[in-house]
Amino acid sequence: MHRTAEDLRIPELLARRLRGLSYGMRQKVAIASAYAIGPQVLVLDEPSANLDLQATDDLRRTGQIVGTYTPTELKQLAAAEINRMGLRVPSLDQLDARLTADSPEPQADSPKLQAETRPALEAHGLTRRYGPLVALHNAELRLDHGQIVAIVGPNGAGKSVLGRVLSGLTRPDSGRRASTRRRHKDVWYIGQDLDSQLFGNSVLTELLTGRPDNPESRARATETLTALGLFDYAEHHPATLSGGQKQRLLLGVAMMHEAPVIILDEPTSGLDATSMRRVSEVFRQLAAAGHTLLLISHDAECVLECCQRIIRMEKGHITDDLLLAHATQLRQLMGYQALRT
Ligand SMILES: Nc1ncnc2c1ncn2[C@@H]1O[C@H](COP(=O)(O)OP(=O)(O)O)[C@@H](O)[C@H]1O
Ligand SMILES: [Mg+2]
Repeated sequence: MHRTAEDLRIPELLARRLRGLSYGMRQKVAIASAYAIGPQVLVLDEPSANLDLQATDDLRRTGQIVGTYTPTELKQLAAAEINRMGLRVPSLDQLDARLTADSPEPQADSPKLQAETRPALEAHGLTRRYGPLVALHNAELRLDHGQIVAIVGPNGAGKSVLGRVLSGLTRPDSGRRASTRRRHKDVWYIGQDLDSQLFGNSVLTELLTGRPDNPESRARATETLTALGLFDYAEHHPATLSGGQKQRLLLGVAMMHEAPVIILDEPTSGLDATSMRRVSEVFRQLAAAGHTLLLISHDAECVLECCQRIIRMEKGHITDDLLLAHATQLRQLMGYQALRT
């Protein structure tokens, strides 16, 4: 909040009552409150109508165009340059090199994981209907500890339904699922709408919700925030975090509950490359600590960053389930080839 006030040069307005402000001042406060949430696109309807020249100039400065590129120019940028600017790869052809260069370490050799031979989660014959529609048809699945598995497939394939059924949020019409732990929250589901899953007044209280307020809980919450790179935000309101930070915070909530299996529904959609990589890094840390992650994703870059196994769904069926070997295979599974022809 204070940073926003500084950026928009209104710190002196923070302590004022709204009623006492001029229209122009109110306009600035309205813009600042939208800006504080950090939306990717801010649509302003005549934003400077009530603003003086200085204020209009300040508004112009809050966003800057640092470069203009044609699609061809963007495709020709070197990988290092794209990385530096925090951009996503402009062409998926460039993903092949990335996979061989930074493919994740195989997790299977970890002694901690070898010790646990039972699967983290197993499902047999899961079926879910909505009226005449079979959204999920006889799904068979086994997830091992420490695996990061992607679920890909076209819209409406049944990916979210599978995620919700596996986590127990949606009841299957038939079939059964079993996990290593029989506890209620053994499979944690993080849905697409992050805001509806955040309830606390601060990042710290978000992690402490539903736990006894004692030094142990606080120490654990602090440890979790540090691991997620969110320690500096402990007192911030969750609504003021960026998309990537919210995603990491929700992972922190799952970590506080020691959920062995975490299912994330499109966790990196809308994230820029830098945020996507930070979130992917957390996925890898969690997997290395023995958590099993299921990522429902359309994000080829993220899948290549961290997944070892790909499950593809279509029309309620699991059509493919394989270990990811190269980017071309992933592009095929995600349907990019079809786009080109
Ligand atoms: N609560 C619901 N009521 C009715 N139909 C649903 C419901 N949830 C999902 N469906 C249907 O099930 C199918 C699979 O949905 P979903 O799993 O959300 O697809 P996606 O693969 O895009 O995540 C879709 O046809 C969707 O309309
Ligand atoms: Mg979905």
